[in-house]
Amino acid sequence: MLLVTGGAGFIGSNFVLSTLAATGEPVVNLDKLTYAGNVRNLEALAGDPRHIFVKGDVCDRPLLRDLLARHRPRAILHFAAESHVDRSIQGPAEFVQTNLVGTFNLLDEARAFHDRLPDAEKRSFRFVHVSTDEVYGSLGESDSAFTENTAYAPNSPYAASKAGSDHLARAYWHTYGLPVVTTNCSNNYGPFQFPEKLIPLMIHNALAGKALPVYGDGQNVRDWLYVLDHCAALRAALERGRPGETYNIGGASETRNLDVVNRICGLLDEVRPRANGRYAELIQFVADRPGHDRRYAVDCSKLQAELGWKPIETFESGLKNTVRWYLEHAEWVADVTSGAYRNWVDANYAKRGAA
Ligand code: NAD
Ligand code: DAU
Repeated sequence: MLLVTGGAGFIGSNFVLSTLAATGEPVVNLDKLTYAGNVRNLEALAGDPRHIFVKGDVCDRPLLRDLLARHRPRAILHFAAESHVDRSIQGPAEFVQTNLVGTFNLLDEARAFHDRLPDAEKRSFRFVHVSTDEVYGSLGESDSAFTENTAYAPNSPYAASKAGSDHLARAYWHTYGLPVVTTNCSNNYGPFQFPEKLIPLMIHNALAGKALPVYGDGQNVRDWLYVLDHCAALRAALERGRPGETYNIGGASETRNLDVVNRICGLLDEVRPRANGRYAELIQFVADRPGHDRRYAVDCSKLQAELGWKPIETFESGLKNTVRWYLEHAEWVADVTSGAYRNWVDANYAKRGAA
């Protein structure tokens, strides 16, 4: 039995679905169902006794204690977080609460649970802390990619809250012997990603004939990884990762934002041509994100060498799958883009204006 937090979000739900398909191991899924959590992501598991969904908060310690005592998981995979950088700039408090305080609560309850386990279970127990490459800050054009030894230099409230959570995770291994494995992954994309993030937002806006808002000069670089490749890396970290170690995960797919948007437009031109003109005509440069990190690139040679993982999808094949998925799931998109979504989009983009 695995305890997954944040398993109704983008990566968490892909992890729950792909892990149940790959291994059949039962999952207890704890999720607060914020705007980013969606039980519809898990509807393929309706009635499946191997999936137990619990609506709750990682800040609720009695609930965490009860779930651990009742289900006795062999591992915790901690995805739950506030994850959008722009939201962290507009309202950082929730990021500190969930990402830092929530992770602290979970680590501390896991420690108490782990302390009481019999020796064999104690040795095999794992806490996989799912983190981000943003903790390392920003790279210049010719800097080498982030390694596990790169100094932390988080630049946004989101990145700082994740960096703090990584430090707590490290301390819980170092001080208390809680067998934590931390992963730091680059930008994910794929099915079920909330259309506030670059790739699904651009697909969504393009299909709606709306402007495609590119921040700044569009030359910022991200290292894209298909979400199911991330999930496979997390299973490798769970099964073979060494406690106390950190592993970088990345797609070796560095791409400038403007190129990403143009590629999405090109794919849509092929499969869903506009009546008049090409999708790229919708691109609009808008005011930059404050403190916008220029470039991320991840060296994941440690993960590849030690745990034998490598990604299956290229950025080309993964992006094609993703565009197809959003075209085939218009209902899912309509569902998550009603109500609160509209308020967020208005708040984030209205004040940016044209660059
Ligand atoms: P997401 O925003 O799509 O999902 C987060 C999930 O956590 C949602 O289901 C939400 O309801 C849940 N949640 C939020 N606060 C909670 C709380 N207090 N208690 C319980 N559940 C709560 O995020 P994601 O993109 O799937 O990211 C998952 C994890 O992976 C995060 O920790 C993020 O930092 C990390 N990560 C994300 C990326 C990426 O590109 N998306 C890359 C690297 C690492
Ligand atoms: O690197 C891993 C991180 O990737 C994760 O830890 C975060 O949870 C995840 O949100 C992501 O952060 P980014 O800020 O890199 O992702 P986002 O999709 O928000 O933006 C990607 C790039 O695109 C970034 O340079 C900002 C730019 N952008 C984004 C949006 C939403 C635009 O130009 N226009 C937009 O409208």
